[in-house]
Amino acid sequence: MAAMSSFFLLIIGLFLVFTTTTTSFAELERFEEPAKGADGSLSFLVVGDWGRRGTYNQSQVSLQMGKIGEKLDLNFVISTGDNFYDNGLAGTNDPNFEESFTKVYTAKSLQKQWYSVLGNHDYRGDTEAQLDPILRKIDSRWLCLRSFILNAEIAEFFFIDTSPFVDSYFNTPEGHTYDWRGVTPRNNYIANLLKDVETALRESSAKWKIVVGHHAIRSAGHHGDTPELVKQLLPILQANNVDLYMNGHDHCLEHISSIESPIQFLTSGGGSKAWRGDLKGTNSDDVKFFYDGQGFMSVQLTQTNAEIIFYDVSGKILHKWNVSKELQSAM
Ligand SMILES: *[C@@H]1O[C@H](CO)[C@@H](O)[C@H](O)[C@H]1NC(C)=O
Ligand SMILES: *[C@@H]1O[C@H](CO)[C@@H](O)[C@H](O)[C@H]1NC(C)=O
Ligand SMILES: [Zn+2]
Repeated sequence: MAAMSSFFLLIIGLFLVFTTTTTSFAELERFEEPAKGADGSLSFLVVGDWGRRGTYNQSQVSLQMGKIGEKLDLNFVISTGDNFYDNGLAGTNDPNFEESFTKVYTAKSLQKQWYSVLGNHDYRGDTEAQLDPILRKIDSRWLCLRSFILNAEIAEFFFIDTSPFVDSYFNTPEGHTYDWRGVTPRNNYIANLLKDVETALRESSAKWKIVVGHHAIRSAGHHGDTPELVKQLLPILQANNVDLYMNGHDHCLEHISSIESPIQFLTSGGGSKAWRGDLKGTNSDDVKFFYDGQGFMSVQLTQTNAEIIFYDVSGKILHKWNVSKELQSAM
């Protein structure tokens, strides 16, 4: 009888192990970052659209990132894509990797893991080179995948490959060639990605849910909103209580609040060339801050508080925003 019931329990146990591993096994690769200290706080910088061998103020932005990074004692750095101009990397031995990354972001405080997504310019080169683990032998900070998840205890980050969503890169490439290896057939790629992101967001129990992509959902800058993401991605983010969406692509800094959900749209694309000079007047959400020049963003998270700061090329604070989770749920 005892043998019988323990056999029965074993079967149940095996069944539970099997079902939990299969249901929580998403297609998206997962990484872990331990939070700091007993309070589980996290701090990181976000920079985008940068790799120009130090030119267009890239080195100045890097210098200030180093100083702010020192103060904040960073956990890691996030790159919102367009990592290497003009056409990504030509291969894993392209000197642009070291000239635009290793030799530019030299500050001690920036010697942390960098989590990067690909931008449209990265797709114009040998896309797979940027994803190749061999780059980590040259600079161990580098980690770039198309889409992946970072679990940092109080926060979970969902990095999304947004270039394949943009119709014009496929329909009117305007003389540019894109390396879509691993993306075609495009419709399957997008459908699978959306399904994986939706599942992962739904299953996430993190206090803060943060989504990172290269293209803006909302932007008042040169490229404006990305309609494909507004249509296909935004509803998933809203339905799953995403707190922050972070992107680059427009070479500026901006903070836009959604008027229909708590999600905040944050553009940090000021890593090098900027000053485009075309602010779009019309926007369907609430533009809290827009800066056309170079700079970057810091994020400090605690269990109950998120503080977001934008800095210019001299390290000056341009915009600061605080949100409390407790206040939000009490409202
Ligand atoms: C570098 O930054 C300064 C200060 O914002 C700006 O005046 C200058 O135009 C920038 N240079 C370039 C090449 O963007
Ligand atoms: C913003 O958050 C920080 C913690 O990150 C806190 O020290 C600061 O007092 C807050 N500021 C405001 C204005 O609420
Ligand atoms: Zn871009």
